[in-house]
Amino acid sequence: MRSKLPISSLVAGWILFPLPYALAFPSYASLRGLSARQEEPVEAQGGKVPPNPPGPPSFTGTKLVDDSDHPWQAPQSGDIRGPCPGLNTLASHGYLPRNGVASPSQIITAVQEGFNMDNAAARGATYTAHLLVGNVVADLLSIGGKTPLTGRDFPGENATGISEHGRFEGDASLTRVDDFHGDRIAFDQGLFDQASTFFNRFGNGFYNITVAAELRFHRIQQSISTNPEFNLMGLRHISAYGEAALPVNLFVDGRKTGAEKGQLDMDSALSFFKDFRFPSGFFRAAEPGGAQGADVIVTTHPVSPGRNEGAGNYVVDDSLGSVLDPCKFYTQFVNVTVRDLYPNPRGVLRRNLNLNLGFVYEALGDPSCPQVFPYGQD
Ligand code: HEM
Ligand SMILES: *[C@@H]1O[C@H](CO)[C@@H](O)[C@H](O)[C@H]1NC(C)=O
Ligand SMILES: *[C@@H]1O[C@H](CO)[C@@H](O)[C@H](O)[C@H]1NC(C)=O
Ligand SMILES: *[C@@H]1O[C@H](CO)[C@@H](O)[C@H](O)[C@H]1NC(C)=O
Repeated sequence: MRSKLPISSLVAGWILFPLPYALAFPSYASLRGLSARQEEPVEAQGGKVPPNPPGPPSFTGTKLVDDSDHPWQAPQSGDIRGPCPGLNTLASHGYLPRNGVASPSQIITAVQEGFNMDNAAARGATYTAHLLVGNVVADLLSIGGKTPLTGRDFPGENATGISEHGRFEGDASLTRVDDFHGDRIAFDQGLFDQASTFFNRFGNGFYNITVAAELRFHRIQQSISTNPEFNLMGLRHISAYGEAALPVNLFVDGRKTGAEKGQLDMDSALSFFKDFRFPSGFFRAAEPGGAQGADVIVTTHPVSPGRNEGAGNYVVDDSLGSVLDPCKFYTQFVNVTVRDLYPNPRGVLRRNLNLNLGFVYEALGDPSCPQVFPYGQD
C-alpha cells in the first residue's frame, strides 16, 4: 500500500475496499432474532418484507454481457434513467427492468451479473441508496426521479428516487453539472470534452487511475470556485472518489490484460456515459471489483470533506464522516441522515427500516465499528 492515510479505516470503507464480509456473515446472523420479522402479515398493508441480500454469483469470471438475451434498447416513453451510468446501462440492456424501477435485490443481482461488481460493494451502495431515496415499505427503488411505480407513499416515506439532489446524487460529478448550475442528471458534452483532455494529458488517450486522480481533483476545484452551494460531505465524499474509480475497474473490457488492463478508451467511455450502452460485444470485468484504486485518487490530491459557504469559500466539515473515516460515516448516516428522513417510523416502515439498516451495517464489514440502532432492536 502506498497510501499514508489510515489504511485500516480505508479498508473498512465498503465503497473503497469491499471485503468479502459476506463470508463472515453467511447467514446474516445479526438479523436473526429480530422479532419484527414475525410481525403481522404486512403484505396486507401493501408492504413487502425485504428479502436477505443476494450473495455473490457462482461464476465470477469474465463473460460476454452484451449478449442476445440483453440487447440494448433506447429508453421508451416513461422509462426512467438517472445520474448513474452503470445502472442506466443495466436498465437499457434489460439486466434491470427497462422502466428503471427495481428492488434492491434486483439491483445487486444486476450489477454483479452485468458488471461483475463485487458483492459487498453492491450491497453497500444499494442499501445506502434505498434508505435515502427508495420506497422501503414496497421494497422498490427508482434509478432516476420520483415515480408512482415505486408504490404509494406511506406516511413518512421519502421515496424520491436516486436523482434527488443531496441524498446520493451530489456535486462535482465527472460528466454532469452541479445542481446549482443546471441539469444534474443529463450527460454534459462540455464536461465530457473537458474529461477527454485529461484522458489525453494524463492517460495517453485513456482513462485510468492517474487520470481519475487529476480529473476528480479538478472537478472538485471547479465546484469549489463556482458553486456557492457545493457540498462534499459524508456519503458524497466517499462516492465522489469511488465513482471516479469505478470506470477503471468496471467499464474496461474483461479480456484486456497486461498493460491494457485498467485503461478505458474514449469511445467506450462515451458509450457508457452518454448512451448507457455496452460497447459492442462487451465482456464484463475478469474479477469482481468496485472502487479499487480510489485510495490512490484520494492520496494524490487529498481534499477534506466539507461544503461551500459562498463560491470559493470551502469550509472543512467532517461531521458526517468521509472516505477517511467510514465508521463515522456509517454512524452519522444512521443516526443523523436516516433519522432526519424518518424521525418516528412505526409499524411496517420501522420494521423495514431496521432490516435495511442491518443490511447496510453488514455491507460495511467492519466489526470494530459498533452497530447503531436508532429505532430499537425489538
Ligand atoms: C450498486 C448500485 C449503484 C448505485 C445505488 C449507484 C448510484 C449512483 C448515483 C446516485 C450516482 C450519482 C452521483 C453523482 O451525483 O455523481 C452514481 C454515479 C456513478 N456511478 Fe453508480 N451506482 C451504482 C452502481 C454503479 C455501477 C455498477 C457502476 C459501474 C459499472 C457505476 C458507475 C457510476 C459512475 C462512473 C458514476 C459517476 C458519474 C459521473 O460522475 O458523471 N455505478 N451512481
Ligand atoms: C420525509 O417524509 C416526511 C413525511 O412525509 C416529511 O415530513 C419529511 O419532510 C420528508 N423528509 C424529507 C427530507 O423530505
Ligand atoms: C495512465 O496512463 C499514463 C499514460 O500511459 C501512464 O503514464 C500511467 O502510468 C497510467 N496510470 C495507471 C495507473 O495505469
Ligand atoms: C445518536 O444521536 C443521539 C442524539 O441525537 C446521541 O445521544 C447518541 O449518542 C448518538 N449515538 C451515536 C452512536 O452516535
